Amino acid sequence: VPNGTKITIPYPCDFHHHFRQGPAISSLVPIASQRFGTALAMPNTKPPITTVPLAIAYHDELMAARKEGGGEMMEIVNVLYLTDNTTVETVDEMAKHDFIVGFKYYPAGATTNSDFGVTDFLKCYPVFSRLSDLNMVLCIHSEVSTPTVDIFDREKVFIETVITKIVKDFPNLKIVMEHISTIHGVNFIKSLPETSKVVGSITPHHIMYNRNALLVGGVKPHFYCLPILKRETHRAALLEAASSQSGRFIMGTDSAPHTVGSKESSCGCAGVFNGHAAVEMYVEAFESVGRLDALEDFIETGKKFYGIQDGGRTMELVKEEWRVEESMELGEDVVKPLRAGEMVKWKIVR
Ligand code: NCD
Ligand code: DOR
Ligand code: ZN
Ligand code: ZN
Repeated sequence: VPNGTKITIPYPCDFHHHFRQGPAISSLVPIASQRFGTALAMPNTKPPITTVPLAIAYHDELMAARKEGGGEMMEIVNVLYLTDNTTVETVDEMAKHDFIVGFKYYPAGATTNSDFGVTDFLKCYPVFSRLSDLNMVLCIHSEVSTPTVDIFDREKVFIETVITKIVKDFPNLKIVMEHISTIHGVNFIKSLPETSKVVGSITPHHIMYNRNALLVGGVKPHFYCLPILKRETHRAALLEAASSQSGRFIMGTDSAPHTVGSKESSCGCAGVFNGHAAVEMYVEAFESVGRLDALEDFIETGKKFYGIQDGGRTMELVKEEWRVEESMELGEDVVKPLRAGEMVKWKIVR
């Protein structure tokens, strides 16, 4: 569409956002507040948010940063970090707090700060059962961490060996297969019966970039994330799915900042920081396949799944290029934003 074109979309919510901890929070919350009505805060802090008191303290801290930011009043919801030892009593305790919507399940060793994660999902069945009864959500980082499974196949093997069984054993459990990164994830979600309560979240980076961004012309650590970027066929399938208006795919940015030093390292951390332009990038990606009309379904499906009501609030964007900063403040440190120094094609008006 021509420059200057304006579009109005339902106000976006981000159902997967890393706000980190300490001074970084006051950098990250205001940026998210400019783009999202509600954000779901990931619990993989150090230490992880494994209990209700920790979740209350974390939520309070995030809400306080929101006020300091002065912008719109973004709502923040939380999930607890699931471990082998999480009890059914904790689920009952969580249910007393509206801002706690469920759990994040990290397979042990799968990603950043997942050492406390789940080693055997069968141990969590009593918790899954209670979650299902209470209509709460299980967010899943859907990758195996088995050393003999190739890093590019970890999602596919997780589907075959774990999530298919969970979905079968808990047909009423609300599940988010987070940041799907392959056509296998897309096909799995699409194959589920109409009655199933499983959706897939999709990030801006997985629909805009393939693994060439990470590996061609030298290794580019700022494109290293988990699940790792895959080949082009997968990227195209994910963008097709996000814009398919199937009511099964939701917005979840997985904005995951790490300091420049910890990314540009002999052992660089996994995570892409996209919080500064995530909505704008989703719009750009949908436009690239001529599907601006499908943004509404993508945004509303997540809100419906999580029961978010915002009275029909909208966001207006204009097609107008702007340049992303080379680096941004992250508390007392510095982060390199996705597409640093390059152009983004859409801008938020209000
Ligand atoms: C593997 C790959 O491309 O290395 N798949 C993937 O990227 N998801 C499988 C393969 O083609 O070898
Ligand atoms: O790339 C990632 N970074 N993937 C995750 O699952 C976690 C995240 C992080 O916390 O840095
Ligand atoms: Zn994850
Ligand atoms: Zn994440």
